[in-house]
Parts: sequence; C-alpha cells; structure tokens
Amino acid sequence: MKKILCTLAAILMVATGAKADEGMWLLPLLQKMNIKSMQEIGCELSAEEIYSINHSSLKDAIVHFGSGCTGEIISNEGLLVTNHHCGYGNIQKLSSDEHNYLENGYWAMSRNEELPCKGLTVTFLQNMTDVTPILNKEKKHLEKKYRNAENAGEKIAAELEAKASELIEAAKADYPHCEANIVSFYNNNVQYLIVDKVFTDVRFVGAPPASVGKFGGETDNWMWPRHTGDFSMFRVYAGKDNEPADYSEENVPYIPKKSLTISLKGVQENDFSFIMGYPGRTQRFQTASQLKQMIDINRIRVDARTTRQNIMNEGMEASPSVRLKYASKYARSSNGWKKWQGEELAFQKLNIIGREEQKEQDFIKWVGQKKSRLAQYGQALKKVDEAVAAGKDAERIITYINESVASMGPETVLINFFNTLNTHLKGSTDTAAVIRQSVEETLPLFKDYDVALEKKMCVAMLQFYRDEVDSIYFPQIKENFATLDFQQYVDGIFRNSHFATREKFEQVANLSIKDLADDPLKEFHSAIVQVITPCYASYFGNAEQLKEGSREFAAGLLKWQKGEPSYPDANSTMRLTYGTVKPYSPKDAVLYRHYSTLTGVMEKEDPNNYEFKVPAKLKELYEAKDFGMYAENDNIVTCFLTTNDITGGNSGSPVLNAKGELIGLAFDGNWESMSSDVMFEPDLQRCICVDIRYVLFMMDKFGGASHLLEEMNFSK
Ligand code: ARG
Repeated sequence: MKKILCTLAAILMVATGAKADEGMWLLPLLQKMNIKSMQEIGCELSAEEIYSINHSSLKDAIVHFGSGCTGEIISNEGLLVTNHHCGYGNIQKLSSDEHNYLENGYWAMSRNEELPCKGLTVTFLQNMTDVTPILNKEKKHLEKKYRNAENAGEKIAAELEAKASELIEAAKADYPHCEANIVSFYNNNVQYLIVDKVFTDVRFVGAPPASVGKFGGETDNWMWPRHTGDFSMFRVYAGKDNEPADYSEENVPYIPKKSLTISLKGVQENDFSFIMGYPGRTQRFQTASQLKQMIDINRIRVDARTTRQNIMNEGMEASPSVRLKYASKYARSSNGWKKWQGEELAFQKLNIIGREEQKEQDFIKWVGQKKSRLAQYGQALKKVDEAVAAGKDAERIITYINESVASMGPETVLINFFNTLNTHLKGSTDTAAVIRQSVEETLPLFKDYDVALEKKMCVAMLQFYRDEVDSIYFPQIKENFATLDFQQYVDGIFRNSHFATREKFEQVANLSIKDLADDPLKEFHSAIVQVITPCYASYFGNAEQLKEGSREFAAGLLKWQKGEPSYPDANSTMRLTYGTVKPYSPKDAVLYRHYSTLTGVMEKEDPNNYEFKVPAKLKELYEAKDFGMYAENDNIVTCFLTTNDITGGNSGSPVLNAKGELIGLAFDGNWESMSSDVMFEPDLQRCICVDIRYVLFMMDKFGGASHLLEEMNFSK
C-alpha cells in the first residue's frame, strides 16, 4: 500500500495536457494538467489568474453556497448570484402567505430591505494543499515504530489522527478566522488540507417569481430545450473588520478579494467556456457491482417518492398556502426522483454496466500481466464485490425504512426534538430548561406542516412499507403491524402523540422526558430503530473491506492510465471544468440548437398549468421588445448549452468565457446523459446554463432593481 501511495503522487504530477469537456479538475494542478489544453481551445488566462494562493484570482470570487450549491461574487460589495433553485429553501423560509417572495419574486430596493437568512453560510476557499506525502511518511514511520506492538493498527490510526490534527491546527494559525479540514480524494488515495473562510451573515437581495425562476417546473427539470430564469441574488455581510461575523445590524457588506466582471456579449457556438464550482458527488471510480447496487437502491427511492409526491402534489395544487409550505420539500424530493429515473434509463440505453464491466475485464488483464500488479491490485475488485454483496440486503431495508416510515412528518419532529435535546443535555443539567429550548428550536418545523396532508402521507408510507418489505422487518409495536388499519392508527397518533400537531408539541415544553415514555409515536419510532439497527450493523460490517478495495481499485486505475491526466470523483470541493458552447443531437434526425430564447417561453405558456404560467409583465416586455442592453437579434437569449462536465452542487456555478468573464450560470444537465455521474458522454452530455443577460434583464427590466447594476463591473 505504501508503495502505491508514493507512486500515485508521482503519477498525478507527470500528467500534462488534458482533453477538454470531461473532467472536474483540481485547481492546484491546473498549471500542470490543464492550462495548456485550455489555451489551445481558446482560454486567454494563465493558471495563476484562475487559481493562486498568493494573489487574488478568480477562485476568490467563487463560493460554496450553503452546503449544496455554488455562487459567485459579482460586485465589490459582496453581491452574490446563484441559482433560484439554490436560494429556493431560504426564499421559502422567508416567505409567508402575506409576503410570498417565492411565488411573486422580490427585490430589495435598498440595503435595509435585504433579508437575513438564518443558517445560510457562504464559504470562500483560501488554500488547498496536498498533504499525502506528509501523511504517508508519518504512516511509514509509525508502521516501523509499532512493528511488533500489540494493537498496532489502533495505535497507528490514533497517531495518524493526531498528525492530521496538528496540520489542521497549524493551518488555522496561519489563516486567522478560517476553518481547516483534511479531505480525501481518489477513493482515499490522496489527502488535501483545505482552508476555508465561512461567512454566516448572508442576506436575500432578490429573485424573480417562481413562474420565471422555476419556469417549466418538474416537467422541464433535467431537460433541454429549457427556458428557466434559474437565478437569485444574495449579499455577504461581514464585521467591521471585513471578517466573518454572525448577523448583526452593525455588519457591513463584505469587500471580496475578487469579484467577477460580467460580459453582455453572449455566446457563439464553439466559444471556449469554463466553470468553477463545487460539484457534490460522482461515481466515476466505482465498480460495476457498486453501480448495479446504486440503481437498485435508487429504484426503491423512486417508488417511495412516487407515493409521497403524488399526495404532496395534490395538496399543493389545491391550496397556495400548502404549496408554499411544501414547495421546497417537494422540489428536493422530486429532483432526485426524476434524476434517478433518468439515470436508470440512460444506464440501459448507453449500456453503462456493460461498458464498466468491459473496463474491469481490461483492467484485470492489465493487472495479470505482472506479479507486482497482482500483489497491489489483484484483490481490489474481489474485495469491493464481496463487500457490496454482503451489505446489499441490509442497504435495501435501510433505504425502504428511511424513504418511508422513518421520514414521516411527525417523526421528523420527534427525531429533531430528541437530537436537539441530546445535544443540549451535554452542556447543561437543567433538564426542564433544555426541554423548553429544544421545543422552541424544533417548533419552526410546523411552519411547513399541514396536518391533513401529513396524515395522508403517513398512511400511505406505512402501507408502502408493509407492501414492500418482508414481515420479518415489520416494527414490533403493541398492535399487529401486519393487519393494522393504518388510517385508524394514524388518526390515533395525531390525536395522542405529542409530536404530530403543533398544539400538542407546544405542551412538551412543560413535560418531563418520563411523561413522553408512552407516546405512541415514540413507541413506533423505537420499534423502527430496533429494525434498522442490525441492518446498519450488517451494512457497515464490511465498510473497511470496501474502503480498502475501492482504494486499491482507484490506485490501480490511475497506474493503468499512467501519463493521462486524471481527476478524482467529485466530493464538494472546488473544481474546474472546461469545454465549449455546443449544440447536440438527442436522437436520429433531431438537432438541438445551443441556445433558447424568450420566444420559447411564450410558446410553452399554459395559463392552466402552474409550471408553465408566464407573468403578464414578461409578456408585455416581450411584445414591446423592451429588452434594453440585454437583447440579441431582437430577442432575449434565455439559456445555452456547453460541453462542461458538471453535477449537482455545481448549480449556480459561474460560466466564464475565454477572458474569465461571467456569461451565465450553470443549472442543470440534460435527460439524454443522465448517467453522467458515472460516465461522461462527449456527444450527448451538455451543461444547461442560464444566460447572464436573461438574469440581468429580469433583475433590471422586469424586477426594477436597476440600482444593483451600479455596483457591477461590465467588460468593455
Ligand atoms: N436539476 C437541477 C439540479 O439538480 C435542479 C433543478 C431544480 N428545479 C426543479 N424543477 N426541481 O441541479
């Protein structure tokens, strides 16, 4: 293993000149791996202008928005733009029936009207350093030190952990006001020390109405042609010293090291484009057995969500107030639900498993050619396959439970309450006060909670679980789960449990933990925990073997492809992908142009379908061709396509031109290549971007927030 790690670092270093399109590249390796090839297809920047730890560079304008999206700074006063679907949860939280910013849109006309978003963070990357050589050297030393010692493994692990903490503490000392973490790449073959600055006072500045920001809804999600104005704006605030500070009226707009310049020139086919952002998860180093298991598990999720979403949707269609409550939950659920279905289809159509199996065959052949390779990588696939097989059934049950009976509305309240309680109990002996505080902190869950709808969903999810799993996994409650009348059971819970309605939950503030002992929902939840606990034990029982096999497999693959530049799986760290603006052909005889316009919005309009309503004002602007400086050929370009390699988490990422100027925001992938997290498809895979001119048109002409233009920089 030691040897593998040393050679790996070397492999990553020798690689030069990558091909375009595919790849979520590591920024510190840009100079070595990518910049030459980027320049060959049009990039006019140096690697140092994109990523530098000594000077301000583009990376200083790119942020991790919340924990699941990307945003970019577009003014010297901390103004930030991201996708509408990234701001969605926060905008929903700020909205009420009286002030429905989600539905109607919002623009702060002055700084006082910028609305604080509790809990939202914006993270700036300061530095990332490969610490693999340091940790490997330490490991080697420890292995020698404890060669014949008892519990050598544990001792080595503990001291390695201490070494890692030492590195982290040193980084924190070098970077005041920052956090530091060690993050693994390439299936645990490489470790980076990453230093971040996290801002906690972030305020909502504005967004278009849902009919623009989410135009096309779930129907158009993951699809091209697309016409969604998927953007929202926020502002980062800091203390007077320009450092992170929790919300305070005294705070001032953050002055960034770098903000992006905006280009209003638009895009042409074949233009160079690159994207920097925080892709979340990909599976490009997984084995065929893991991929099959993933598809199997996702099918369970899809089935459970179909049941729940149908009920949610009915409630949302019937009442605007229910729609507001469930908008964010529904969008989150449905986004995965549709993605996994597309992925399953694409797996079949593009023969993903077959191609992966072929790759593994070729890999095995290569490994077999040398004794040393056999020693290092010969067991990798076997280890992974065995571990997957051993955990398979347990993972299915875990998924069934988590997607149905462990995520019912009242149970979410219960789980949240007890988690909060247990956290606070650690720091206090005043149990009564802690209970009151935990109730208070859990109560906001009832803001997005409709009792009638929750009841229906509970009944359906219990039924789903009973229909799908073997009776040995039924919860052991007082009643007989196998024959239970779920409607009656759920009615009883909503009558008697302290976690199912706001009124009863508020009473918990005056109760003791003992008083909750007989709670019927608590009984149910404990019974579910009894079922899931052994499943987790079985599932994680092979975690070490899986980790080891995966690490060897990735190390082997890298060695096999030695000399070719490589990038690790996405892991929510900052990456860069580069390519060009390009159309595509989704099927025989069909060509999709590389951009869409407002004309398409008007074509798709359907006043009777919530997803395709068009605001009257937008129609007026369109008819009057009142497009201002944002027009191209007497129209507004809404979205465009590039060949950039992105995934979830990249949402909101800046799409940049050859000069590094902002031309759009990445917000989606396309239906024909939904297997893209596993394999990149050069001919089919596209990144869907909203044109920055549509963003600004909506902000300025439609939203009347032209004052924000004054703080932005535009290219000449
Ligand atoms: N598919 C997009 C992504 O995963 C999210 C789009 C959100 N829109 C929606 N209609 N749910 O980044």
